[in-house]
Amino acid sequence: MALPDGFLQELKSRCDITDIVSGYVNLKRRGRNMVGLCPFHSEKTASFNIYPENGSFYCFGCGAGGDVITFVMKIENLDYIEAVKFLAQRAGLDMPENSYDDGMSKMRTRILEANREAARFFYKQLYSPEGNHGLEYFHRRALTDNTITRFGLGYAPRSRFALCDHLRKIGFTDNEIVTANLAFRSSDGRRIVDRFADRVMFPIIDLRGNVIAFGGRILTDQKPKYLNTSDTLAFKKSSNLFSLNNAKNTGSRQLILCEGYMDVIALNQAGFKDAVATLGTALTSEQALLMKRYADEVIICYDADEAGQKATTRAISILRSAGLGIRIITVPDGKDPDEFIRNKGDKGPAAFKNILDNSGNDVEYRLYKLKSQFDLSRPDTKAQYMTEALKVISTLDSSVEQDIYVSKLSAEIGIEKSAVQHDLKKLQKRRHGDNERREFSKISAELTGRNDKLNTEKAKNIRAAKAEELLIAYIVHNNDMAKVAAEALPPDKFVTKFNADLYEYIIERISEGTDPGTTLSRDFTADEVSKFYSIINSFNSQVATREAMNDYINTIITESEKLTKSDISQMDSADIQARLERMKKQKK
Ligand code: UTP
Ligand code: MN
Repeated sequence: MALPDGFLQELKSRCDITDIVSGYVNLKRRGRNMVGLCPFHSEKTASFNIYPENGSFYCFGCGAGGDVITFVMKIENLDYIEAVKFLAQRAGLDMPENSYDDGMSKMRTRILEANREAARFFYKQLYSPEGNHGLEYFHRRALTDNTITRFGLGYAPRSRFALCDHLRKIGFTDNEIVTANLAFRSSDGRRIVDRFADRVMFPIIDLRGNVIAFGGRILTDQKPKYLNTSDTLAFKKSSNLFSLNNAKNTGSRQLILCEGYMDVIALNQAGFKDAVATLGTALTSEQALLMKRYADEVIICYDADEAGQKATTRAISILRSAGLGIRIITVPDGKDPDEFIRNKGDKGPAAFKNILDNSGNDVEYRLYKLKSQFDLSRPDTKAQYMTEALKVISTLDSSVEQDIYVSKLSAEIGIEKSAVQHDLKKLQKRRHGDNERREFSKISAELTGRNDKLNTEKAKNIRAAKAEELLIAYIVHNNDMAKVAAEALPPDKFVTKFNADLYEYIIERISEGTDPGTTLSRDFTADEVSKFYSIINSFNSQVATREAMNDYINTIITESEKLTKSDISQMDSADIQARLERMKKQKK
């Protein structure tokens, strides 16, 4: 059942968009609007706008836009109904009856319930006779029972039916268990089989305390070593981090990024509660943006092996574009953090703390790695090293910092500082030119409609599409003109179908006395909603008049009557005659 208009109206009036967004984004006033750094893409200058007047947001950098519900959907990773529930709870509003009937949302809830039950089941098994070798495994890896309980670790029994049987007994259907990715269907399709068997289990818990997935480690050296839940309706690997639920509460605005579950748990046990790990994939920019909400600085602590060092280089560039400060630690003796911290004596927690405190930043790390690749005794390779090193140094925002590294570099390679500085300036000039070119091509794509993925007819009919968008924006800002516009120009006169649908919806909502913005996020897809807010907020500042509206309408009519050769060849003579008459009249 769709949520009633009245309820949405009440909800929106109680959930001020500026209030909600400022819980996630640092906002500053700019005229009537608020601006901040976009939480949905990486940027250094603010292009994320809040329009309190119409309760919307729009980012000119990445094109994300919508109302307060859309914002919560995106930032909290929720579906529509869940986002409404989230806001209703905050505002102290009861959800209307039957509104939970949304199929997707119901299934998500069931998956989370099944996962929670599964986690309880695995934990219990760990302390049963069958799970004893799992428990011994954890103990052998120096985990205490306290740590095991805190992370809710468990054991999945060897029999391939244990979990399925248990979940079915307490009311889960086969379909729900399979959709949760806790089981798969046997090849004859007749029964379902546990996904995890004879593995120690690591539940993955999101920021609201839901068990969203599992990692399961095999106890032998068979492959795959770790088996993880595939993406489900309740879990997206690329946008979650293991143990962020613990790490976000340390109050330190710093996170330690490790490779594996065991590293994170070992660090936690040693008192480093701000450790997190990706879930069996390389770091994504979504994860970096997520970290940015809880940290200003990330300390990369990957394995010392070659794969770990490659991953470090990749992670640096992702974290950097998210605007995070970076430090890097490489654990000595080719160990991973888990092995290192378990050691007594000169290694162990105290030694780790020492490494942590002395870790260098990403520029130092990259320069250090670079240096090992060049033979600095030869002039040609020395020059190459300098060019590469300057590329790294030029990515620094602060000119003071740049100067420090230029000094270091000049001393290191024995080249006059002014010469190094000169080359740095040249490099920066070139980079600046590249940025301008990129900006130009982006703007030109926008102006010609080439990059409009939703309104694919726009590029072909740019004049008409622009007028349509201006008309839509005008009506949304001047609801009282909707009727006049609709009479002069019914939706089927629009040239592009996308704008026609939007126009029709808006006219209809206004004629029913509802603000179209109230129900838009209920009735359109997220991308369509973004596009709508891009249209109305881009033209927001233009104080359009009624004459302007008439101009838009005339342009659309003229454009719609421009016909292609093939259109004309298909017309009969009466049709041509009528059109000619009309065109002659318009000319006068
Ligand atoms: P590692 O192989 O470094 O695991 O992979 P680890 O944490 O050191 O494991 P232990 O100490 O041998 O138990 C790092 C991470 O990569 C993912 C897991 O998330 C693991 O924690 N991974 C690894 C998989 O998803 N599948 C695999 O088969 C292996
Ligand atoms: Mn390990």
